[in-house]
Amino acid sequence: MRRSGSIANESGIQAFDMHGARIELHSGYVRVLTSGRPRRRAHGAREVHVPLDALTDISLVKAGLLSKGRIVLSTADRQTLVRFRRVSTSHAQAMVNAIERAIAAQRNPGLTPISRIDAPVAVSEPGPHPAQSASRSGTIDLTDEFRRALSILNHGGSMFLTGKAGTGKSTLIRYFMAHTRRKVVVVAPTGIAALNVGGLTIHRLFSFGPSTTLDDVQTGHYRPGRFAEVIKGMQTLIIDEASMVRADLFDRVEAALRRFGRRPGKPFGGVQVVLVGDLLQLPPVVTDPERAWLEGLYETPYFFSAKAFTRKAFPTVQLTTVFRQLGDQRLTDLLNAVREGVLVDEMRDELNTRTDADFIPPDDEFWLRVAPTNRVVTARNRKALERLDGRLYVHDATVTGDISTFDAPVEDRVEFKIGAQVMLLNNDDRGRWVNGSLGKITGVADDGATVLVALNGGETVDVRPYSWDVTIPQVAGGAMRRVPVGTFTQLPIKLAWAITIHKVQGQTLDRLIVDLTGGTFDYGQVYVALSRATSMNGIVLTRNVLAKDLRTDRRVLRFLAEATQHVAERHVGVGVLTVGAEDRWSRPRPIEIALAFDDGTSLSTLINPERDQSGAREAYGITVDDTALAPKLVEAWSVLARLVKGMTPIGVGIDESLGTIDFELKRQGLVHALPLGINLDPETLTPGERAECEAPTALRRARAALAAHQRLGGSGGTTFAPPEFDEQMSYLLSRDDFAVPRSDPALGELLTISQILSGAILKAKTPQTAFDVDKGIVRAAIAARLASVIGNSAGLAPSLIERLRLLEPLLGEAVVPAETASTTTDLSQVVFLGARVCFTGDAFDMHGRPLARAELKRYTTSIGLIPVESVTKSGCDLLVAAELGTQSNKARAAAKWGKPVISVSQFLQAQIRPEHPAEVPSPQRPQNPTNNLRNEPQGLLHG
Ligand SMILES: Nc1ncnc2c1ncn2[C@@H]1O[C@H](COP(=O)(O)OP(=O)(O)OP(=O)(O)O)[C@@H](O)[C@H]1O
Ligand SMILES: [Mg+2]
Repeated sequence: MRRSGSIANESGIQAFDMHGARIELHSGYVRVLTSGRPRRRAHGAREVHVPLDALTDISLVKAGLLSKGRIVLSTADRQTLVRFRRVSTSHAQAMVNAIERAIAAQRNPGLTPISRIDAPVAVSEPGPHPAQSASRSGTIDLTDEFRRALSILNHGGSMFLTGKAGTGKSTLIRYFMAHTRRKVVVVAPTGIAALNVGGLTIHRLFSFGPSTTLDDVQTGHYRPGRFAEVIKGMQTLIIDEASMVRADLFDRVEAALRRFGRRPGKPFGGVQVVLVGDLLQLPPVVTDPERAWLEGLYETPYFFSAKAFTRKAFPTVQLTTVFRQLGDQRLTDLLNAVREGVLVDEMRDELNTRTDADFIPPDDEFWLRVAPTNRVVTARNRKALERLDGRLYVHDATVTGDISTFDAPVEDRVEFKIGAQVMLLNNDDRGRWVNGSLGKITGVADDGATVLVALNGGETVDVRPYSWDVTIPQVAGGAMRRVPVGTFTQLPIKLAWAITIHKVQGQTLDRLIVDLTGGTFDYGQVYVALSRATSMNGIVLTRNVLAKDLRTDRRVLRFLAEATQHVAERHVGVGVLTVGAEDRWSRPRPIEIALAFDDGTSLSTLINPERDQSGAREAYGITVDDTALAPKLVEAWSVLARLVKGMTPIGVGIDESLGTIDFELKRQGLVHALPLGINLDPETLTPGERAECEAPTALRRARAALAAHQRLGGSGGTTFAPPEFDEQMSYLLSRDDFAVPRSDPALGELLTISQILSGAILKAKTPQTAFDVDKGIVRAAIAARLASVIGNSAGLAPSLIERLRLLEPLLGEAVVPAETASTTTDLSQVVFLGARVCFTGDAFDMHGRPLARAELKRYTTSIGLIPVESVTKSGCDLLVAAELGTQSNKARAAAKWGKPVISVSQFLQAQIRPEHPAEVPSPQRPQNPTNNLRNEPQGLLHG
């Protein structure tokens, strides 16, 4: 039996099957067969032949939202009307297109539309699928918000249509598509997002290649290619999942429309452009090689930083009712906090009650596991398939025509077993399932090509290979049509125990396992995962959601908040120095933070970044010894946050600075909602102010920022919330003399002690008197720091021990642990021929020039040692550090495995033992404790 709605191709005859009717395209005529009841037949004959050359018009009339409508074949003297229902209108459209092509071919022999199209493009389900344009409950609640948005859409206005996950953005688009008369094209930045709304990818529509530049598009050899007619004819361009649209891409879209759209020369070519999405979901993809280039051109990678974007041209229209979790207000609240990155401890605990690492879904329930990476997903699916007993079935795809650019939603080879959990990837003609439906395979027919799937809703359905029509849009006779150019036939199923978070974007799921194995790496990832769920009971976490998973991009918060800002009464200049570069997995970390208050007081503290801090010595004059006893960010923040509450931060690049702090606090497990600052534009500063704002100390930066703000004025920030956390407080370690701020008198004592301690630790200033206050907090803090320093680096540098000794009279007790007091490395024991050597940090030579890692490695090899990449228990003998005392990952590993750590200069001067000492020596041997290695020239001894 043929599938309803299929456009089969038997002996050259194409046919469109419906319930009770069939249209066949023969050479020279269309044959229409109906088998309705006699009364109905009055509207049309039982069998009608319509000669192609007599056809004056053929049209498709869609009826409402459901999959029904009629095809009207008009000749000069009559109309033949074929009603259909419960069949995808896209199939009906394909039939209409096929007939039109046949007419065209008959009129212009030798020129068929297909042959004019060089590279076909696939649209798996062109246009909105009727079953999808309705809500899950079957009806759409046309709220006032929906009506307002629809009214703007219908009047041709461009806009940014936004709202949290599940507010019905995509539903609204599908509704609009199904009802409008405008020529609309829907696109999305990724294939999967495009599928969700039945559209193309942006690159596909515009034929942008990987190397198409803005210049090319504006004035160069770029041409819109196969969709030139579509681009020329379209009135509305809808871009779903716009959060992932990159600024440069948006500019290219604008340029292409301006040059090739319906009104050349006009902005966006006069096309109504609708951006749809939630900026706190997944961000644009920026690969490492592109990062620097993009940062040079755009303030952020988001579309709102594009040159072509203005708030005026794209007024924000917001949907606020969350439909997806309708009925679970608590989950809605938790999701909102996740979305904004402010899921405080108490709420996090509540969400984490859903954690169950050993969860095994009951046999009769469908749970979908979502994970951040493909690697985890593939592994989980493979493992689940292996665990199933029984025969492994294999089904291969078949293709016709040109499908070269088709983004198949399904594998060329599908492997499955009975019992496999699968996702269906098409919309059933009879509406029994839609793209994204879940089910379990319960049987396979003898032909191996028909599988029985027990759907998540209960019904068991037979699923056969499905033919995706590979079609391309084309403008003909004033209407937008799609022309089929090939087919891709495969079982529309894919193993679905697990799927990536990127692929569930836009979807709604009733039961979901959130598997954060391997960590999260993108903004919005956890929010996108969790917000697919419809209720709290439908979520299981394989591990707790941690503070560090809550990544929100402050640049987005800033963009979103711009409308609602208020003037703060008090301001605080903020200076932050950082170390480390930004990449996908890590961010720069603060190494010094300073605050300058408008009452003239100010303070600063060093921060122990617990990482390699190469560069800080050269850029800021801060060494690892300086930061070894400095507080971690959470410890410092527990003090600073109390001083800034209710104030608005000021600084050059303030959002970025606060973003760095936010990221690092969360990494350390603390969530504190940070405000949006008032950003100083360097262009408006005097050269003197600008220089101070880039000074090598955080305090000078903070003071300069506050002073510049006082001169320039300006508003637009929000204020620091009171700290609602209870972190361990500790002293600050400051290289500046500061006036103790008055904003929190309770902290006065701690800050005074901090100054005395700082003098001793950083400047070897022997304090005049011992503290006359309770030393408990300070002593505890120092003990904690020491433990962490000893635990995280491979021993205390002698210079550090000297500094600590100064504290002993101050605190009235010994602070340097006896066993670490006088140890250092015996070089003759650790540098031997054949030793495997690992390096950490960026070394500098005596002239302060960077020493390339490659150069060091070459040197290592030349003296008969072996450079290795990592510190492991059995694969490394020695760690050579750019700065002794570093707490980089490698240094921590060395501490863990008891590997000796020496400085670059020690390494370069070392005598090499001919072989590994027979008796393995203790890596650390007593030596002269006053041998202060830090004072030696750092770096390569050229010779
Ligand atoms: N107006 C509405 N009336 C009834 N149900 C709705 C309405 N809008 C959306 N829904 C239902 O809410 C769910 C989420 O809708 P939809 O996918 O359109 O949201 P979205 O805003 O596009 O979400 P996302 O940001 O995740 O893409 C769907 O199940 C949809 O059927
Ligand atoms: Mg959506």
